[in-house]
Order: sequence, then C-alpha cells, then structure tokens
Amino acid sequence: MKFPPDTKALVCGASQGIGEAIAHLLAENGVSLTLVSRTPSKLEKVKSELKSPEDHQIFAADFTKPDDVKALADFIKDSGPYQVFVNNSGGPAAGKLFDAEDQSFKDGLQAHILSSQTLLKELVPMMEKSGWGRIINVISTSVRIPIPNLGVSNTIRGAVASWSKTLSLELGPKNITVNNVLPGYTKTPRLEKLIQSASDRLSKSTDEVDKMWKAKVPMARFGEAKEVASAVCFLASEHASYINGVNLQVDGGRTGSI
Ligand SMILES: NC(=O)c1ccc[n+]([C@@H]2O[C@H](COP(=O)([O-])OP(=O)(O)OC[C@H]3O[C@@H](n4cnc5c(N)ncnc54)[C@H](OP(=O)(O)O)[C@@H]3O)[C@@H](O)[C@H]2O)c1
Repeated sequence: MKFPPDTKALVCGASQGIGEAIAHLLAENGVSLTLVSRTPSKLEKVKSELKSPEDHQIFAADFTKPDDVKALADFIKDSGPYQVFVNNSGGPAAGKLFDAEDQSFKDGLQAHILSSQTLLKELVPMMEKSGWGRIINVISTSVRIPIPNLGVSNTIRGAVASWSKTLSLELGPKNITVNNVLPGYTKTPRLEKLIQSASDRLSKSTDEVDKMWKAKVPMARFGEAKEVASAVCFLASEHASYINGVNLQVDGGRTGSI
C-alpha cells in the first residue's frame, strides 16, 4: 500500500491482537511507528519483530489513567509529526447492562473517549501542518447491532462512533479523514477470553461456544487479526483519500444490517 514518505503513525493497543497486526502491516509498508499499550515488555517484543525495528518507538500508558494519557500527549509533542492515529485499545468490561457499576462506565469513557480527545489535541495540529491525516478507530460491530452481554461496551462504542462521525465532519476540510473499522469475531487473546466467559456463563464447553459463534458467520470461520489490519492499513493509506466518516465491518458478513 502507498504512503507519503516519512509517514509516522501512533498505533495504540499494539502489544497484541489486532493492534499488533496493524503495527506489522504499517511497518511493512514503510511507516514509522510509536507503539502504545500498558506493558513495556510486550511492546519491546513486538517492536523487535517489526520490519526495521530501529525506525520505531514504544510508549507505555494506561488509557484509564488521565496522567498516563497526558504523558503520552507530551511524548507525541516531542516525537512527531504524526499523520496517522490508530485509535485502538482493550474492549470495555463485559456483562449485562443492568448489572454494570458506575466505575465500568467511567473507565470506558475515560479509556475510549476522553483519552482519544486528549491525544487528538496534539495530533490534529500536526496532521494539519503535514497537509493530511488519518484517524482510524477500531471499534466493534455493536455500533450497528448491540451484542448481548456487552452492555457497557455497546453503550461506549455507540458514543465513540458518534464522536468519530462528528470529527469526520469537522476535520474533513483539513484533509484529515476519520473512519471506523468494526471487527467481528477475530482470533486474538480478547476473543479467547470472551469464549471462556461465554462457556462459563452458558455452562457449555469452549468448543461448543466456538461452534455456536462460527455458525453465526456467513463465512463460517473467525477472522484473522491481519484481515482486520488490512482494512485499517488501507484506510490509513493514500488509496483511501476520499473515504471519510464510514464504518467498515470486517466480520465475514455476520452483521445482519444493510
Ligand atoms: N477480537 C475480537 O473478536 C473483537 C471483536 C470486536 C471488537 N474488538 C475490539 O477491537 C479492539 C482490539 O481487539 P483485540 O482482540 O486485539 O484485543 P486484545 O487482544 O485484548 O488487545 C488489546 C490491546 O489493547 C491494549 N490495552 C488494553 N487495555 C488498555 C488500556 N487500559 N490502556 C492502554 N492499552 C490497553 C492491550 O495491551 P496491554 O495489555 O499491554 O495494555 C492490547 O495491546 C478492542 O477494542 C476489542 O474490543 C475485538
């Protein structure tokens, strides 16, 4: 995929799963990266396995902690300019909406909206100076059809989709696009945890849950992290220069809406 020379990307949630796959694909396409997550040792490992490891940096931050996010914003100021922001992190807490505690909503809002907003304040002026920018939010198909037993997550994801669409209207005139990628079932450590918790809740084996969930997907399989990464990389590239404000499902056709 094609990127302008010296493109730099902030890739969040990069220590495993979808974020790690995005980091690999962007690095293969010559983009230099700052990898972010809570765990420095995991970030160091991912960085060492990327193409041209010396071109990339890491920064440890917990998006539920405002001070960590402020420190990351300062790091961005010193290490930019960035043209690409991959806004990705762990999913909000699972469980029924009625059972949810206030703290889960507060953590979700902090990690998925307020942190992104803080980072945006540093990133957008840099994108504007560069003459272009790409913001890609990795959210969930729940922004189209809420997923049972992901009450807080459905609520927060909806807010992120609205935040994102509003930004796409405001930033479009600056040649900065804002789009969302909505993964379906994707083989990552997150999916393993979700299968385990469904298995406990439904008193079924993990193999049975696996089969039940695959049966919901027209393509009859789970996705690979690199299949989601391809969509993110495309939206970040020059090829997607006129795509703005969309929600792109990468779910094997599972979402039953038009
Ligand atoms: N996999 C799926 O089937 C699927 C389906 C729909 C939506 N999604 C969504 O897509 C996103 C990525 O999914 P994934 O499967 O790759 O998840 P994952 O395997 O759980 O990876 C999440 C990444 O985010 C980082 N992270 C988690 N909490 C963080 C925090 N508080 N602050 C900073 N970084 C944090 C993790 O690293 P550290 O632990 O090092 O912080 C890790 O790098 C998630 O939002 C997920 O809900 C996934």
